[in-house]
Amino acid sequence: MTQQRTAPEASAAQGAAGGREPGEDAGTATVSVIGLGQLGTRLAQAFLAAGHPTTVWNRTPAKADALVAQGAARAAGLEAAVAASPLVVVCLPDYATVRGLVEPVAGALRGRVLVNLTSGTPQDATKTAHWAAGHGIGYLDGAAMSGTRLVGRPDALFVFGGPAGVFAAHREVLGALGNSVHVGDDPAQAPVYDTALFGAAWGALAGFYHSIALAGAAGADLRTYAEVVTGHMGFVTSLMADHARQIEEGRYPSDDGTVEVHRAAMDHLVHTSRAGGVGTEVPELFGALLAGAEGAGHGGSGIASVVEGMRAGADTATTTPAAAPAPNAKGRRHV
Ligand SMILES: NC(=O)c1ccc[n+]([C@@H]2O[C@H](COP(=O)([O-])OP(=O)(O)OC[C@H]3O[C@@H](n4cnc5c(N)ncnc54)[C@H](OP(=O)(O)O)[C@@H]3O)[C@@H](O)[C@H]2O)c1
Repeated sequence: MTQQRTAPEASAAQGAAGGREPGEDAGTATVSVIGLGQLGTRLAQAFLAAGHPTTVWNRTPAKADALVAQGAARAAGLEAAVAASPLVVVCLPDYATVRGLVEPVAGALRGRVLVNLTSGTPQDATKTAHWAAGHGIGYLDGAAMSGTRLVGRPDALFVFGGPAGVFAAHREVLGALGNSVHVGDDPAQAPVYDTALFGAAWGALAGFYHSIALAGAAGADLRTYAEVVTGHMGFVTSLMADHARQIEEGRYPSDDGTVEVHRAAMDHLVHTSRAGGVGTEVPELFGALLAGAEGAGHGGSGIASVVEGMRAGADTATTTPAAAPAPNAKGRRHV
């Protein structure tokens, strides 16, 4: 039978850790998880699986039952959950909910580290970090990038923004979640990465969805096609590292083909799609990006020069302040 622990026992475990930085003793550092929805439940399970004494609290208590059966300690209330661990992970629908819950227990959070794995904007992260700093609370903003299914496995990507020392002190515990990466001292970098990576994944998937529709319409075996395209991704990702350097330097050598050559190839893709009865929205978007670069005088440049037009668009677009990308330390927009 699984032994059930209560929050006071978890507190005792923390007390036994004395002044030790949590995380130094991998596998025994205690952690509290607040918000046991789809993601929060998987976070708590991953901490438990890695051997970290885990205290849980949820507004609807019954959602903690399965975790308690798996060895988690049930906190009697929110404040008890906070008091149980030096590291308090919150996972709630939005930042307004987070603030509504944590503000009344700011006193209990003082001296602890709050890790916020709730989705939001860079502005949300900055405001919450300022609030935490004002109450003597360490703060890491984070984002789960791989859904819930992979949580606890090495290929589940989590990004964290906040002071490097705070992340380092808790690296072992946060590492229980998967591939936990520190992306900068500024907490706002976590939601910046969150949205940027989401866009990157969707860009890749949109190309994949179009291409598999095209291949399928031409009679290709879809599984074979998926295997071939997956094997091709190594080449695509090698371009990313190379092109990131080009974008940073503002120089676009044409080693991987010029904008003109790629625009012509994109025309073929549009025509082939049309002939096969497949929608052309995706290749037309790619073609428009290339045509824009060509129009801006980059016809003979490498294809990463399309970023120049995107940057110009970001500076002139009528985006709301909340939706505008945060400038980085050099005042340049993130790409
Ligand atoms: N699910 C995913 O695949 C995924 C992936 C990446 C990021 N995220 C992000 O993770 C966050 C949580 O997502 P989720 O999918 O776990 O959400 P969810 O399944 O809907 O769970 C929401 C949780 O928030 C609690 N909650 C809602 N309103 C509350 C309130 N006013 N006071 C106290 N607790 C409240 C709920 O408690 P009750 O049980 O009492 O309702 C529940 O525990 C979101 O920001 C989401 O964008 C989710």
